[in-house]
Amino acid sequence: MAAAAANLFSYTSSSSALQCPRSGRTSLLSTSSFWKSGIIAPAAGCSIRCFSTSSSNGRPKGRETEDLAVKEVEQILEEKRRSDLAARIASGEFTVQKSGFVSMLGTGLSKIGPAGKLLGELLVKLADIVEDGERMAIPQAKGSFKAVGGQAFFIPLYELYLTYGGIFRLTFGPKSFLIVSDPGIAKHILKDNCKAYSKGILAEILDFVMGKGLIPADGEIWRVRRRAIVPALHKKYVAAMINLFGRASFRLCEKLDRASSDGEDVEMESLFSRLTLDIIGKAVFNYDFDSLSLDNGIVEAVYIVLREAEQRSTSPIPTWEIPIWKDLSPRQQKVTKALKLINDTLDDLIAICKRMVDEEKLQFHEEYMNEKDPSILHFLLASGDDVSSKQLRDDLMTMLIAGHETSAAVLTWTFYLLSKEPKVVAKLQEEVDSVLGDRFPTIEDMTKLKYTTRVINESLRLYPQPPVLIRRSIEADQLGKYPIKRGEDIFISVWNIHRSPVHWVDAESFNPERWPIDGPNPNEVNQNFSYLPFGGGPRKCVGDMFATFETVVATAMLVRRFNFEMAPGAPSVEMTTGATIHTTEGLKMTVTRRFRPPVIPSLEKKVIKINGDQPLDSCLEGDHKDEMISA
Ligand code: HEM
Repeated sequence: MAAAAANLFSYTSSSSALQCPRSGRTSLLSTSSFWKSGIIAPAAGCSIRCFSTSSSNGRPKGRETEDLAVKEVEQILEEKRRSDLAARIASGEFTVQKSGFVSMLGTGLSKIGPAGKLLGELLVKLADIVEDGERMAIPQAKGSFKAVGGQAFFIPLYELYLTYGGIFRLTFGPKSFLIVSDPGIAKHILKDNCKAYSKGILAEILDFVMGKGLIPADGEIWRVRRRAIVPALHKKYVAAMINLFGRASFRLCEKLDRASSDGEDVEMESLFSRLTLDIIGKAVFNYDFDSLSLDNGIVEAVYIVLREAEQRSTSPIPTWEIPIWKDLSPRQQKVTKALKLINDTLDDLIAICKRMVDEEKLQFHEEYMNEKDPSILHFLLASGDDVSSKQLRDDLMTMLIAGHETSAAVLTWTFYLLSKEPKVVAKLQEEVDSVLGDRFPTIEDMTKLKYTTRVINESLRLYPQPPVLIRRSIEADQLGKYPIKRGEDIFISVWNIHRSPVHWVDAESFNPERWPIDGPNPNEVNQNFSYLPFGGGPRKCVGDMFATFETVVATAMLVRRFNFEMAPGAPSVEMTTGATIHTTEGLKMTVTRRFRPPVIPSLEKKVIKINGDQPLDSCLEGDHKDEMISA
């Protein structure tokens, strides 16, 4: 969500094939080469199109030769882009110019007699002192961003990072931000001296939707709410959620099955958004949005509010704060109506849940969970959480948004990355076939789906959601060797840290193998803050395990059953930022059912238990039982 506030520019990248009209040769270009080149197809004299092929892995024959060619093209484009940008940076386009006047005057004076010499020497010394002071000042990048306009905010920041280093000041107009891309400084802000920082502009932008919910809250409110909410995501709860992830992913599989039989291409980004909305609604307040099947008012209301949060983050003038405008603008009226519907629904759910808690005889304890309603809301009410209904609504809304957009974006970019790497897909399918066979995943499988987890780890490295974390200094501090004042707005660019050539070998390539399969799960602690997909320090994501399992389960269940490839004629995949990194026109894919060797039938009925409590097939409605024998 933090990225919403950082989204000052829009941005494009592409993932389709380039076909050169002259040679007729086609190459598949990755996102990075498109967005980084800035000379995309037209400049190269080529047109953009997508492959239309099929094979067991959704890849054409001779693809390996083509992949090599692709890599060459990517490298050439990358080099050109880098040299263009280096030339612009060297020309001083982004650099604050300093006058060497004092120093020049001093040197001039020293040439005109003894008195002039003395004065000149004094002035040169003075210039040296000033320069020393400047050396202690944070490097500044300033200038026209027209040149990089049309891109998402975090992309030009990467180039500036390569020039100015791990911390620099970026000024445009009256605004000034500190951009941090150094893991050590990120650690200092997020963990070691976190009490000196607040959520700053993020809290201001999100106030209308999250109020004092856990993400924007600071100080005592945050401390109290975090202490109440974290225990709700205990182990037994997460284990029960695996079942929910499996059932929701199964519904998506059914939808894809129909599309595949009808020969229809599918837009996966919106489907992932619906999948994760259905999951988070049940997980947080036991509400079935059923958005994979329906387009009802509440689903629409959630999207209106989400898009508004994104719009506010990109708007230069806060029109929503102008008193009359606020009431007259049709957009704002729609937002107010949507917020009312969501708040009323949440109030109803809270009331229903309160009645359930009053009637139940369960004793509250550390791993308390109501089997019929394992939601976080139920846990909070049963724990006797003494909180106003407005605060409770803010917390629920925060978790709904935090857990919905992020996971959907992770799945979208994972499938985009996989569409370019058949070898990774083959390895993934092999693991999923051997670990899961035809059954639903369980909590025990989470430690066995090692390669699937590495794929998610690596996707989160290349596409961190959100790509930028926002803070404001609430007291003076020292960042690296630079002193900073109170009131500095700071963007920690996770994007830069995760793609830094200093910290990563072949930083831009998608390589799940970079994470040892039997090694520990990578996190900010064992990677010393050069990898922080869930943030770090006391404000680290409360849903990290939930989200990792959710995306592992969905990925495993989808690749087990289908092959995915970019749809022929699909719009190129381009990036834009909202709360997280979105595509501009969706991820249009062709989905085909996998053919696998027949499963040897077993006479034994499979019954999967969750923590020994409840057989999984008892949770399946209707067709879902088929999943037990047919993946
Ligand atoms: C792949 C999915 C997810 C990603 C990548 C992600 C990422 C993050 C990050 C980077 C932060 C730190 C923000 C900062 O320091 O400014 C964060 C905070 C948070 N996340 Fe997540 N998140 C995900 C899923 C979830 C889920 C499923 C939930 C809820 C069940 C959730 C709830 C929260 C909350 C409440 C916070 C605020 C914590 C605090 O400030 O104390 N997230 N998340």
